[in-house]
Amino acid sequence: MIPVADSGIVSGMTYAVTTENLTKRYGERAVVENLDLRIPEGSVYGFLGPNGSGKSTTMKMLLSLIQPTSGEVRILGQSMNRTTRRNLLGNIGSLIESPPGYAHLTGAENMRVVQRLLGLETHQVDHAVGAVRLQNQMGKKVRDYSLGMKQRLGIAMALARQPQLLILDEPTNGLDPAGIEEMRTLLRRLAHDGVTVMVSSHLLGEIDKTATVLGILSQGRMIFQGSRSELMAASTPDVVITCTDPVFAAQNLISFDARLTDTDEVAVPGLDDRQTAGVVSTLVRERIGVYGVRRHEQTLEDVFMHLTAGGGL
Ligand SMILES: Nc1ncnc2c1ncn2[C@@H]1O[C@H](COP(=O)(O)OP(=O)(O)O)[C@@H](O)[C@H]1O
Ligand SMILES: [Mg+2]
Repeated sequence: MIPVADSGIVSGMTYAVTTENLTKRYGERAVVENLDLRIPEGSVYGFLGPNGSGKSTTMKMLLSLIQPTSGEVRILGQSMNRTTRRNLLGNIGSLIESPPGYAHLTGAENMRVVQRLLGLETHQVDHAVGAVRLQNQMGKKVRDYSLGMKQRLGIAMALARQPQLLILDEPTNGLDPAGIEEMRTLLRRLAHDGVTVMVSSHLLGEIDKTATVLGILSQGRMIFQGSRSELMAASTPDVVITCTDPVFAAQNLISFDARLTDTDEVAVPGLDDRQTAGVVSTLVRERIGVYGVRRHEQTLEDVFMHLTAGGGL
């Protein structure tokens, strides 16, 4: 176990992973740019972003599989470099892109390969297999596994060394709803047992209920990092106004980007409470009767779509 020394504690928070200005360029193009990750210890960190936004590239840099162009990676309080790399990687389990494992071998044989490779005890391997609930499938050949079982075997392989940090790249990709639910339960259980889990997805719905912290990438840049409630709070929902003359009202508020809704109400984006009061008095001055003013209910999905489309809050 690596001691957590000088681990970037900010306001009582200990981080399993931090990065400073982490950047990867291919030629002129930055595919990850100035990323400051903050992954609290013991969290399930949902790393979200559309396809091509740089999630896999970031995870590969954390695992030292590719070299950052610039910036720093700190894992469990230590800077990742040539001297610390080996020791740090011993504390990280990972599943990147497709699940590993030899298809022609059974689950048990695959786990034995991992055991021998890493010099592990049998009880460590058994514990990992138990954690992903695959103990009854160990005699089957991996080619006869469902995709969900393959993913779970991959996680068991990653868990066998009893890592403090688990990095999973799109483990729900291609799973059916039951498989996704199983994966969510597994991630929660792992975090409960003290493993920090970083898990990526291009679909918010697949991990939002599981993740305790979210990081959202768009075109290589972090556009949001924080809790789900912070995400909701940080985005201002539209103000929706019901009134006597919505067309006239919308025209009056054109400078606020107001628009008519399907239900003939006037929706105005990005207003704080004071601006809302100002807008209402403008309408009243124009002799428009205001019946109702409310905030549009938005889902996390709305916020995510809005963020990833617009490039930030
Ligand atoms: N080796 C590479 N050379 C050039 N471009 C790359 C390379 N690897 C990834 N990219 C580009 O970087 C961007 C981010 O890719 P990736 O990290 O795989 O995104 P994500 O995992 O979020 O889908 C993509 O546009 C991809 O085409
Ligand atoms: Mg990817």
